[in-house]
Formats: sequence, C-alpha cells, structure tokens
Amino acid sequence: MNKTILVMLALAAFAGNAFAEGIIELPAARHNVKFDHKHHQRFLKDCTICHANSPGVVEGLGKDWAHKNCLGCHVFREKGPTSCPDCHNRK
Ligand code: HEC
Ligand code: HEC
Ligand code: HEC
Repeated sequence: MNKTILVMLALAAFAGNAFAEGIIELPAARHNVKFDHKHHQRFLKDCTICHANSPGVVEGLGKDWAHKNCLGCHVFREKGPTSCPDCHNRK
C-alpha cells in the first residue's frame, strides 16, 4: 500500500469521526444509552415525536417513556433495533 492511499484512509477515518457529533450518549445515570440523534432528526423530521414542547427537552425521559416511544417505534416500524445491547452499553 503506498503513502497516498494511507493518507486517504486516514482522512476517511477522520471524516467518519465528524459524524459522531450527532451521537447522543446518555450517561450511566441514564443507563448508557447511545444513539444517533442527527440520523433520527433527518429521517423522522418531526422533532415533536420526542420533544413534545421544546426541542432539547424530553419530558418524562426514563425507562417507561423510552421503552414505549423509542422501542415502540422500532417494533411498530419493524426497522429499528430492539435488543437491549442495541441501545444500552454499546461499544
Ligand atoms: C427519536 C427521538 C428524538 C427526535 C426525533 C429528536 N430528538 Fe432531540 N433529543 C432526543 C433525546 C433522547 C435527547 C437527550 C435528552 C436528554 O439528555 O435529556 C435529545 C436532545 C436534544 C437536544 C439537546 C442536546 C443537543 O444535542 O444539543 C437538542 C437541542 C435537540 N434534541 C433538538 C432536537 C431537534 C431540533 C429535533 C428535530 C429536528 C430533535 N431534537 C429530534 C431525542 C430526539
Ligand atoms: C418514530 C420512530 C422512531 C423513534 C421514536 C425512535 N427511533 Fe430509533 N430508529 C428508528 C428507525 C426506523 C431506525 C433504523 C434507521 C436506519 O437504520 O437507518 C432506528 C435506529 C436506531 C438505532 C440504531 C442506529 C443508531 O441511531 O445508532 C438506535 C440505537 C436507536 N434507533 C435508538 C433510539 C432511541 C434511544 C430512541 C428514543 C430516544 C429512538 N431510537 C426513537 C425509528 C425510531
Ligand atoms: C430502542 C432503545 C432501547 C432498547 C432496545 C432497550 N432500551 Fe432500556 N432504555 C432505553 C432508554 C432511552 C432508557 C431511558 C434512559 C433514561 O433514564 O433516560 C432506558 C431505560 C432502561 C432502564 C432503566 C430503568 C430505570 O428506570 O431505572 C433499564 C433497566 C432498561 N432500560 C433495561 C432494558 C432491557 C433489559 C432491555 C432489553 C429487553 C432494554 N432496556 C432495551 C432504551 C432502550
């Protein structure tokens, strides 16, 4: 492999990291949930699906809310991930 290809691979890896900006990681106190917020914003379009009143605030966020709304949509649409480690303690 020549140097140009190595540099291109390094740049590609760097560009990949820029996407990580859209990832929300809820802390341990919130059970280590990690998901791509930006991706959800793009394909769901309607912020009020999760932010009932003001963007940024998820009223009542917790297990009941999340398993009803996050998991509920994943099951209903049969497209999103549904197993525990898909959301919790992801690498
Ligand atoms: C699939 C659910 C979902 C959708 C749809 C969604 N959000 Fe969020 N958003 C969340 C969750 C969960 C958090 C984290 C809340 C917390 O930490 O208390 C959050 C956090 C935020 C925050 C604060 C953190 C940050 O990244 O700055 C902002 C601002 C925000 N959302 C704006 C929006 C806007 C604007 C839209 C629509 C374009 C949107 N959200 C769509 C779930 C969603
Ligand atoms: C209204 C539907 C809907 C809601 C609400 C929703 N999701 Fe999703 N989610 C999806 C779909 C559809 C996919 C698959 C998208 C794809 O593969 O492009 C997905 C993918 C994911 C993924 C895998 C990709 C990624 O984002 O890392 C995770 C993790 C996830 N969702 C977590 C959550 C969490 C946590 C919430 C609640 C805060 C949530 N989702 C709310 C529809 C939804
Ligand atoms: C689609 C994403 C998703 C999936 C799949 C998922 N969870 Fe959750 N879970 C969440 C979110 C988001 C929260 C709320 C985090 C918070 O406290 O704000 C949560 C909260 C919890 C809590 C916290 C309970 C509390 O109130 O203290 C437990 C325990 C939990 N989940 C266990 C599980 C188990 C076990 C599975 C598999 C059967 C699972 N989760 C599947 C997203 C998910």
